[in-house]
Amino acid sequence: MQLTIFKDYNALSQQAADEIIALVKRKPDAVLCLASGSTPLLTCQLLTEKALTQNIDFSRCIFIGLDEWVGIPPENEGSCAFFFHNQVFKQLNFSSSRIHLFNALSENLARECETMDNVIVENGGIDLMLVGVGMNGHIGFNEPGVSFDLYAHVAKLDETTTSVGQKYFREATELRQGITLGLKHLLESKKVLMLANGNKKAAIIQRAIEGEITNQLPASIIRRHPNSTVMIDEDVAAMLGR
Ligand code: F6R
Repeated sequence: MQLTIFKDYNALSQQAADEIIALVKRKPDAVLCLASGSTPLLTCQLLTEKALTQNIDFSRCIFIGLDEWVGIPPENEGSCAFFFHNQVFKQLNFSSSRIHLFNALSENLARECETMDNVIVENGGIDLMLVGVGMNGHIGFNEPGVSFDLYAHVAKLDETTTSVGQKYFREATELRQGITLGLKHLLESKKVLMLANGNKKAAIIQRAIEGEITNQLPASIIRRHPNSTVMIDEDVAAMLGR
């Protein structure tokens, strides 16, 4: 694991967007897996700006959505799908047949997980996974206590996730379960970028990268990945190495 400290959220997001662009230039059929949420928002915005200016073609890339709230339709603006449509697919020329998002309304969520696992294998694995970290140390919906050996699965959401998650929704929304790629996917991805910015993430990132590697703090698994970069701003870095 490599740790990179950036002056601020903008510098961090610029670098994350540049890494995605560099990968797609090198490998036009790259398999990309992105998280949604506040952390990758600016990366996605800069990615679309840079891609349009540099004329980057995403039509052969595969897009994998990291996770989704079970029972929330894609038209709901709090859904991960809504985020991807608005922040990524509207601007970039991904081919719709190469976009793979969990259908969180499916009556057979186990099959959704199986389908996603197969898509990843059939496309040669994930080239780049870009993730954020929850206030409880989750990655995707890999909640505290999750096994490091799981691929896609349905998770009962932690109380922190259901309360913090309200920030994405216009009105109070009942959130119970998530459908998510597993930490085994993260371990098997060729490269992982884990992003965190702002004071509020400082304590959890300090524990994830300086404390014990434990499934009680899923983000700590990043240290087991040989080609991962933790990208943080100075607010997060302020708590490290004390
Ligand atoms: C969202 C996701 C979550 C978020 C995490 C941080 O697709 O997978 O794990 O990355 O909850 O959320 P933000 O970035 O909103 O602080």
